[in-house]
Amino acid sequence: MLYRFIFSSIFLFLRSSGATHQSDMNNNPNEIDERSFYVDYERDTFVMDGVDFRYVAGSFHYFRSLPETWREKLRTLRTGGLNTVDLYIQWSLHNPKENEYVWDGIANITKIIEVAVEEDLYVILRPGPYICAEIDNGGLPYWLFTKYPGIEVRTSDSNFTREVKIWYEKLLPQVTRYLYGNGGNIIMVQIENEYGAFEKCDKPYLNFLKQETEKYTNGKAVLFTVDRPYGNEIECGQIPGVLITTDFGLMSDEEVDAHKDKVRSVQPKGPLVNTEFYTGWLTHWQEPNQRRPAEPLANTLRKMLRDGWNVNFYMYFGGTNFGFWAGANDWGYGKYMADITSYDYDAPMDEAGDPTMKYKIFRDIISEFIDIPELAVPERAMKMVPEPIIMSSVGGILSNNSRMLLGASEIKSDRLLTFEELHQHSGFVLYETTLPKLTRDPSELTINDLRDRAQVYVDEFYVGTLSRENAIKSVPISAGWGSKLSVLVESQGRINFNTLDDYKGILGNVTIQIYNEPFYKVLSDWIITRFPFDDLDKLSNFVATGENTQGVNERGIAMNGPVIFEGDLVHNDAVIHDTYIDMSGWGKGLIFVNGFNLGRYWSVIGPQITLYLPKNLLKQGENKIIVVELQKAPLCRLIKFSETAILDEA
Ligand SMILES: *[C@@H]1O[C@H](CO)[C@@H](O)[C@H](O)[C@H]1NC(C)=O
Ligand SMILES: *[C@@H]1O[C@H](CO)[C@@H](O)[C@H](O)[C@H]1NC(C)=O
Ligand SMILES: *[C@@H]1O[C@H](CO)[C@@H](O)[C@H](O)[C@H]1NC(C)=O
Ligand SMILES: *[C@@H]1O[C@H](CO)[C@@H](O)[C@H](O)[C@H]1NC(C)=O
Repeated sequence: MLYRFIFSSIFLFLRSSGATHQSDMNNNPNEIDERSFYVDYERDTFVMDGVDFRYVAGSFHYFRSLPETWREKLRTLRTGGLNTVDLYIQWSLHNPKENEYVWDGIANITKIIEVAVEEDLYVILRPGPYICAEIDNGGLPYWLFTKYPGIEVRTSDSNFTREVKIWYEKLLPQVTRYLYGNGGNIIMVQIENEYGAFEKCDKPYLNFLKQETEKYTNGKAVLFTVDRPYGNEIECGQIPGVLITTDFGLMSDEEVDAHKDKVRSVQPKGPLVNTEFYTGWLTHWQEPNQRRPAEPLANTLRKMLRDGWNVNFYMYFGGTNFGFWAGANDWGYGKYMADITSYDYDAPMDEAGDPTMKYKIFRDIISEFIDIPELAVPERAMKMVPEPIIMSSVGGILSNNSRMLLGASEIKSDRLLTFEELHQHSGFVLYETTLPKLTRDPSELTINDLRDRAQVYVDEFYVGTLSRENAIKSVPISAGWGSKLSVLVESQGRINFNTLDDYKGILGNVTIQIYNEPFYKVLSDWIITRFPFDDLDKLSNFVATGENTQGVNERGIAMNGPVIFEGDLVHNDAVIHDTYIDMSGWGKGLIFVNGFNLGRYWSVIGPQITLYLPKNLLKQGENKIIVVELQKAPLCRLIKFSETAILDEA
């Protein structure tokens, strides 16, 4: 398989140090000016260096996989017959706090682009700045809400556009040298993301974003938008002079034709592009895993390729919502549904990067239409199944000692401060106050506008859980239970689609029923303690010096607040493989491996039971596993391992 890459000296250097395939190369710098990639609207095609070009691409979220695995995964993607990789950029990962930027490790954006070059892949860059992607806040940093309460993101609100400008000044100069016209492999750059679905139709904002992008792309790559083929979404997201693309998943031939007509009605000529051909779907907790069957999808794929569409699989490799990055949707009974930690997505490459049946079926179809590399499809990588680990309790997080070691110092406030006001991305915030003397037994405690889940304690004894997802706002409090009220609020991930104002904490008031006029008393005088769980040294220190108290009762229930458990995965062999942690028997919580936050588990409700544990997080010898369990531990206190992922238990 030969590509028409002409590399600048920097790419030549990179390729000579790691290239696996031969390409047409020309190191004459004067030739760079002749590189061109553009849209021939009249002939309905892309043209690369004078030759018609079509891409079959796959979405790959570098922020959902460890950088040590990028090369292997991109090679598997390339082997699947794809000639292009589609990369979203997650602003919140690279800019976690105002004025703080991260570009190393999993945030090394130039590295992922260079690996793509070396693996013979063109790049579609999708910098957003909003990316949806089932990522917390659609990739927008939470601190925008801290700095500008009430900010209208994705509009021409000057506070938003000012921050986007600053962000693009940091981001885009790093990628300009990789643009196709500058000798690199980035052929396309997206502006905004399904903007029509946001319904604002704020054209000044779209034009601003186009201008900001062009400052850096300068005609050296094709700019495009993507909008769903529904209603007037394409018109709403359209920007003059920018290629329109659309997105859809499993469809009948007639539906594909209808979507084509829809695009043609707004953009009569030009290459057809499906920027998000859904290979699977996202999954929320408390619902069945969303699988999509391979054969009908294969029919849609064949239809599109036959009709000349350029296609990007969304996702080709999904990966994992490590840490607190999982997003949520404003759907369902409580108008809130949190996404699971796995982003397997039922994609052609599974969460571990192994090719699935879908991969092979799609590869065969792609090979009917374009030349695919003669590389052997990799076998499923070996997995290991370590012996179960016995976990021991280190102590509850609500005790005085734990607060000191794990929490931030207390803040006194009349009002309930949000996570954003507290400069906290995710994790937990504890709100405490003194209850008045109860005049009814029981009295109803109500939390208005809870985001998202609250475990309620009276005198540090568990009385119940309130849930935004399940629209449960109230819990009865018995008169004799005590006077100290503790409400531990968990952020389950910010909504990433439609409404983008998902501040966390308690946005309304907290009331207790009193049955004298006015029936309810609003509680105030709060003491607030933050538990962000973002300082892994703190957590390790806690585990090393903790109280070793039981924390859970004889049935394993955490009656006095979340309990931290620790255990060692001892691996004596020098060879290490990926594995899956099987959390069955446990309730809900977080799991850390050698100081890395692997993400949330909620095995008591599913559908995800196992967490993917990449081998790169493990070492020979002792590996420290720390679990923050909110609800219950199994009596055996065991953590088991599995050879395969268990994602369908709901
Ligand atoms: C990104 O990766 C490249 C290539 O491995 C490396 O040279 C560079 O130092 C990395 N950048 C950062 C900020 O770590
Ligand atoms: C921008 O944010 C500041 C700080 O919150 C606020 O005072 C100002 O009114 C905002 N500007 C606009 C245009 O909303
Ligand atoms: C914990 O601290 C609170 C307030 O600082 C104090 O009233 C209480 O007695 C302490 N509890 C223990 C067990 O030390
Ligand atoms: C408390 O919040 C509820 C729901 O938003 C509202 O109806 C009620 O008026 C509030 N009570 C007070 C005293 O502010």
